[in-house]
Amino acid sequence: MLKGKNIVLGITGSIAAYKACLIIRGLIRKGAEVQVVITPAGKEFITPITLSALTSKPVVSEFFSQRDGTWHSHVDLGLWADAMLIAPATASTIGKMANGVADNMLITTYLSMKAPVFIAPAMDLDMYAHPSTQKNLETLRSYGNHIIEPGTGFLASHLEGKGRMEEPERIIAVLEDYFDEQEKDLEGKQILITAGPTYEKLDPVRFIGNYSSGKMGFALAEECARRGAKVQLICGPVSLKVQHKNITRTDVESAQQMYDAATNLFPSCHAGILCAAVADFTPSQVSDQKIKREGDQLVLRLNPTQDIAQALGMQKRADQRLVGFALETNDEKVHAYEKLQKKNLDFIVLNSLNDAGAGFRYDTNKITVISKEKEVSYPLKSKAEVAADIIDSLKKIL
Ligand code: CTP
Repeated sequence: MLKGKNIVLGITGSIAAYKACLIIRGLIRKGAEVQVVITPAGKEFITPITLSALTSKPVVSEFFSQRDGTWHSHVDLGLWADAMLIAPATASTIGKMANGVADNMLITTYLSMKAPVFIAPAMDLDMYAHPSTQKNLETLRSYGNHIIEPGTGFLASHLEGKGRMEEPERIIAVLEDYFDEQEKDLEGKQILITAGPTYEKLDPVRFIGNYSSGKMGFALAEECARRGAKVQLICGPVSLKVQHKNITRTDVESAQQMYDAATNLFPSCHAGILCAAVADFTPSQVSDQKIKREGDQLVLRLNPTQDIAQALGMQKRADQRLVGFALETNDEKVHAYEKLQKKNLDFIVLNSLNDAGAGFRYDTNKITVISKEKEVSYPLKSKAEVAADIIDSLKKIL
């Protein structure tokens, strides 16, 4: 995930410098912050004004600020960055990097960089193939830098050929994959997640349901999978799609079907997150024909469903963890504590219907994570960010 990542983007004097704009835009769209450091030659190809407009930050190019002589600290940039990307990187810059020729701000920044460095070479084929360039790239590789090999786009057989800078989307994907790989803290874990509503059938055309969209459960499933876990997602009727290949989806309709699937899958999991809005009652009789509009009243008789959370809480082994949700309208914390206890949960995620933007159908949520030991409240966030907070809490006790 690039969200919240600080990227120093080094731009050098290549015709591909304009593509740096696309890189900046792509990184910022994915939630990264970008600080540009440009070489004197780079400025011949693209103006700092364009770049600072895109990044909302002044571009660093000289050792001293021209206006007031303030010293630009390359050391600070080296500490601020989560990654440095040099794109496009010319043969000249690659040579200077490999040999420590610190005659511009980009190279000094590179030399004091504490974060991983990615280099996207851009030059013509002859320059790229020249032994000196290849030797310098080899040196940079041996220093632990990541070389993003130039693409062999559709112009491969023509002028640009190999040596042409890799496409911006591919460069961004390389950075994204790198960070994702770093964050795989759930590798080897199996996690069960229930999501969405259940439908309790009344007759062939009607059911008792609820407004749950499944968005929170799906966000949790994606977050766990992204962090390396294998996910068993059991979901009621929802109109959402699974993205990550490590998510195995089981579609169910009723509380009973969800119970059967969950009790069956939980023994092979390290943790269960029970996010579904399971119906508490189900019609005691399902009419096999459509119920007719007859008489003054229709009285429905309902039987309680199985409490999935409570059943899993009872079968939970010492090496397993269980997380529940509580959506409350009143006396929120009292009810949440009761459920924590009764269902033998390790923690419960409370969201109150009294908070604007929280609960069913919204893309945002506002939660308090409650365990026996402590309570942590979070501000209103997107469901993807809320999922990350919840999984951070789970990770600590797994
Ligand atoms: N839950 C469950 N199976 C049920 C009912 C609830 O697994 N049949 C889970 C939910 O997924 C959630 C937690 O239990 O993680 C609390 O759900 P909630 O509906 O708030 O609790 P209930 O025990 O049903 O209490 P009430 O409806 O009376 O508030």
